[in-house]
Formats: sequence, C-alpha cells, structure tokens
Amino acid sequence: MDTIVASDLDYQSGFGNEFATEALPGALPVGRNSPQKAPYGLYTEHLSGTAFTAPRVGNQRTWFYRIRPSAQHQPFKRIDNRLIRSTPFGEVETPPNRMRWDPLPIPDAPTDFADGLVTYMGNGDSTGQTGIAIHLYAANRSMEDRYFFNSDGEMLFVPQQGRLRLHTEMGVLDVAPNQIAVVQRGIKFRVELPDGPSRGYVGENYGATFRLPDLGPIGANGLANPRDFLTPVAAYEDRDEPCELVTKFAGNMWAAEMSHAPLDVVAWHGNYAPYKYDLSDFNTIWTVSYDHPDPSIYTVLTSPSNSAGTANVDFVIFPPRWMVAEDTFRPPWYHRNVMSEFMGLVHGIYDAKPEGFTPGGASLHNCMAAHGPDADSFEGATNKDLAPEFQADTMAFMFESAYLYKLTEFALNTDLLQGDYFECWQGLNKHFTGK
Ligand SMILES: [Fe+2]
Repeated sequence: MDTIVASDLDYQSGFGNEFATEALPGALPVGRNSPQKAPYGLYTEHLSGTAFTAPRVGNQRTWFYRIRPSAQHQPFKRIDNRLIRSTPFGEVETPPNRMRWDPLPIPDAPTDFADGLVTYMGNGDSTGQTGIAIHLYAANRSMEDRYFFNSDGEMLFVPQQGRLRLHTEMGVLDVAPNQIAVVQRGIKFRVELPDGPSRGYVGENYGATFRLPDLGPIGANGLANPRDFLTPVAAYEDRDEPCELVTKFAGNMWAAEMSHAPLDVVAWHGNYAPYKYDLSDFNTIWTVSYDHPDPSIYTVLTSPSNSAGTANVDFVIFPPRWMVAEDTFRPPWYHRNVMSEFMGLVHGIYDAKPEGFTPGGASLHNCMAAHGPDADSFEGATNKDLAPEFQADTMAFMFESAYLYKLTEFALNTDLLQGDYFECWQGLNKHFTGK
C-alpha cells in the first residue's frame, strides 16, 4: 500500500485542546481558516462535533486541509448489518436476570474490525442522540481498502487482546490492551491489527461526547489527568485506488464506493479529534480510613445526560490499587442500583468475582438487579486479616448508564451466556445470630 505517514505514532498531549498539526511544512494556513487558496492545493473542510451555536466552553469543531473534500463519494447503499444492532433494541424481551458471558471466540473466517462487531445491548435513541450501545469485537484481518465512520455515535475502544492501530482522518493511534481510545462521531478511520487475532469491547456513545468528570472536593488534580490523553499528529494517505467507505447511520450499515482513500487530511486544527489514554496513568483515589467510596470515584470519562449529575454513560475502571481500609468489608458491597452496569475485564481478576468472569468476558447487572460478591469472596473478605494488600493484576471496567440496557437476540441466546451465573450467590450462608 502506498501510504504516507508523516509522523507515525507521534502524539499531542492534552484533553480537548485546540490542537494544530501539519504533515507537510506550511500545510496549515496561518491567520485564516479558509483562505482563497489553501497551501499545496488542498481543500478546506469543516467538521462540526457540536451545534455551531453550542456554548464556547463545550463547542467542538475541526478544520481539515485535505487532498479532496469528503463530499466526493458515490451514493451509499445498504449492506448487511451482520450482528450489529441499534435502537430501539426491540428484538427480544430483556429479562431482569443477572447475566454473564464467556469471551467471544476469535473467528476462523477472515473478519475485519467492522465485520467483527457484535452488539450485546443498548439503550436510548441513536437518532435522538441519547443512550449507548455496547459491542464486543473479535477480528483477525486489517481493514486496508475499507474505511468506516459512525454517524450514530462516538466509539470508545477497549482492546482486550491485540493492539488496534486506528488510522484516522487526524492521524494514527496505536492502542494496546490496557489503553483506550475514542473516535468521535463522523471521523473516518480504518483499523489495522498489528498483532493479528484481536478482541475487545466498544462503547458506542449516542449522547454528549465523553469528557473528564468534574473533581469537586478532590481538587484540581486526580483521576485521569488531561496531560495523559494523546491525540495524533496529522498523517495522510495519498492513494488513488478504489476504496469502500462504510457508515453506520440510523442503526444500519451503508457503504459507498470511492475512487481514492478518504484519509487524505494533510493538516488540521481544532478540538474535535480522537484520543487515546493509558489506563495505567489513572490516579486512583480510594479510602485510607474505613468503608469505601462509591465506584464513581473510578470514573475516567463521562457522557452527561440532561439530568444534572446523572450520566448518559460513565466509563469507569477498577485498576490495580492498595486496599488498606480498617474494619471494612473491602470488596464491592451488595447493592441494587437505579443505574445499569455493564462490565468487562481486560486482564487479571475482579475481586468480587474471582471465578467465571474472565478477560474478554462480560457481565450485566441491569437496573435494580441485586448483585455483589459471590459466596467465596464474602467468606474470604469477612474472615481475612485486614493487612494492607495490593491488588496488582486487575483491570475491570464498567459502562454505567442511567438508562436500562436492552439485550440483543445474540446476547440472550448465545452459547456464551452462562446459564448458571445465579449460582454464585446461592452458596451464601445464613449468619444471623439473633432470634
Ligand atoms: Fe454494581
């Protein structure tokens, strides 16, 4: 492939900054966004991530200087949705049960990232820009002449096995397990799999774009720090070869023919741009006395709903950390939650479920579903010596949403669903000592 990557794997640091980058010297106009003639014979194009009139503090847009404008493509035609599903998620009745799944197997047939997406659940209304869909993917082939953009939402990638190399309009993001990346609505990309067979999770956020949570009394620093977020520098493909441009639009997959590669942005500036983040950079804050904070203390990114303090979706991690609380039941407590909780595991063990919840697997504790540590975890946590303990090998995460998750037919009927999940709480003994 005749690919020009000017500064492969170089990044700009910061979250939501006004980034400015050029792959050729002088390609980025100075002083005007849309000069009469852009440098190098480039076309100027504007990408809006928010309404033109959104308040300045949240306004997101980017200016592209590209070889051809995005408008130069053939009409889109419907293609097979395969296992991708979307709102209103009405395929099956969603039971109130606690659910857990084994990992998706890597396919035998050649399967790229776009074809390897399998929707498990979702909520909201993609056309009304609320809610989230949760997909898992398993793939074994890179996208080479095939490009994708999502008209319905932004995509948060959580690779679990194998790196993702995301070639985007803004440049290249290399994303390894234990890292995440976000590619916003409308941004074109293709996915290379430099490690071959790959697997992971995708949160498709229909709502407000992900942002860092407010820190309140924590202060000016902590949790995910802005400087640890990395956005690519400009890189482009100058390829005059037939390509396919796929989009997910109103829940369905569409494809258009192009005569050239669409990742032809030579320079850009703006604050609507993909980013990556290494979860090991998370500054974990936790109790140093007794009890433990609500899991919201682990929020990496949040997509707010229109209801104050309530998330369309939070992306929350359970990272390596010291457990030091005194006279405290240290695992997550038993609880029922008006918010709905999807969980995945990148590596290691999740302390509430040492068995059955495996890397690449998934669980769902939907609105008001009773859950908590399994019987073995309870017995261990209530009897062990409460010395300081470091949980080293763990990286679980949660997509927690204000809206109830509705399952797809695949998620409900797949053999990966563990029919005996409820058993993990049946061995809980009665310890009551009163009369
Ligand atoms: Fe929970």
